[in-house]
Amino acid sequence: MKTAFFYFRMTEQLSREQLLQSANEFGTPLYIYNADKIEIQYKRLTSAFNNNKTRFFYACKALTNINILKFIKSIGCSVDCSSINEVKLALFAGFEPSNVLYTSNGIGFEEIEEAQLLGVIINIDSLSNLKKFGKKYGNSYPVGVRLRPNIMAGGNLKIATGHDKSKFGIPVEQLGDLLQIITHYQINITNLHMHTGSDIKDADVFLQGIEVLFDIVPHFPKLKSIDLGGGFKVGYKEGDTAIDIDNLAARVMAAFDNNEHTKNLEIWFEPGKFMVSECGYFITKVNVIKETAAATFAGVNSGFNHLIRPMFYDAYHRIENLSNPDGEIKEFSITGYICETDTFAWQRPMNEVREDDLLVFYNAGAYGFEMSSNYNSRYKPAEVMVKNGEPKLIRKRDEFEDLLSGQIID
Ligand code: LLP
Repeated sequence: MKTAFFYFRMTEQLSREQLLQSANEFGTPLYIYNADKIEIQYKRLTSAFNNNKTRFFYACKALTNINILKFIKSIGCSVDCSSINEVKLALFAGFEPSNVLYTSNGIGFEEIEEAQLLGVIINIDSLSNLKKFGKKYGNSYPVGVRLRPNIMAGGNLKIATGHDKSKFGIPVEQLGDLLQIITHYQINITNLHMHTGSDIKDADVFLQGIEVLFDIVPHFPKLKSIDLGGGFKVGYKEGDTAIDIDNLAARVMAAFDNNEHTKNLEIWFEPGKFMVSECGYFITKVNVIKETAAATFAGVNSGFNHLIRPMFYDAYHRIENLSNPDGEIKEFSITGYICETDTFAWQRPMNEVREDDLLVFYNAGAYGFEMSSNYNSRYKPAEVMVKNGEPKLIRKRDEFEDLLSGQIID
């Protein structure tokens, strides 16, 4: 492998000792991110797409801690935002506007006006907003359009966004109307965008999308790039297959090179999970063991207020008992302390779990902390980043004042 030397020096995974040390130092529940792993993932992408015309915009909706954004910037990656506030966070973290992409959906035109003033790259996803954009800016500000390719893809329906019943993007069958607006206002369309979903392991999905987009490329003579969105699957379960990035890269680059209309275009991607899922660990402490006829429950000091993926998407997260690694293997149902069903794992075999044990949830970097809440008036967890072997607190745990923040108290 061409980058073996590089991987040798970087830490793919934090050790049990490192995780325990951080849990002891910063308390639980705790999110921990391994900066090395983020860099390894980025290098995987750039070494597979080794052609100087592919750009990666980290989909920061996966994890927006400013320190993570700064780190992502420091390794040379650009950033994709899904709200004007993410745009502002990215600029605050130091990204140049030309490296910030704003892929909007369902937003008011005021946000597009704000993004234009900030000078970032914009993808518009409705005919209505495109018309308003044309009226106000004509051809003075280059812009991209998000199309809906009518392809069903993604790990489950909640995270599938490109199919023919999805709200996202301008349906390709409305190409006529789209072209009419562009011609009428002389809009300078420089980017075509699609994003079909998350957890995509099959490169064919991207190739299908390319086919749909390539058919219409000749209608956009000012095009500079095609943006194929994010969605690269990583392994969550033991033995899970992730997307084969080298295979994807070879096929996508060949498709672009073999088409006279696209061979000079840039290829853009917006990976979220691929960049930060595996760098993240979520550590909880076991509050209660409860034996019942149906299961032995291990109730931890967390719930869907901190990690909602298992409950919201039936997502699988690998869980290990950090503090009893040699315990006898038994089945435990891992649940939280929320006043609703919040089962992280049902009847999962693992090293015997006892009260006060520390459990680690893997793949917790993407859409973990980011989707957390204060439900049940619980505090949000602290976040730690490990860089050059050093754990550093990058967000303090909530305190009581945080629950009152913004409330008007008479
Ligand atoms: N680009 C666009 C326009 C997106 O909507 C998304 C994700 C991405 C890129 C990044 O996709 P990724 O590479 O992370 O799969 N909360 C869900 C995933 C929702 C994804 C929403 N959009 C989960 O935890 O599985």
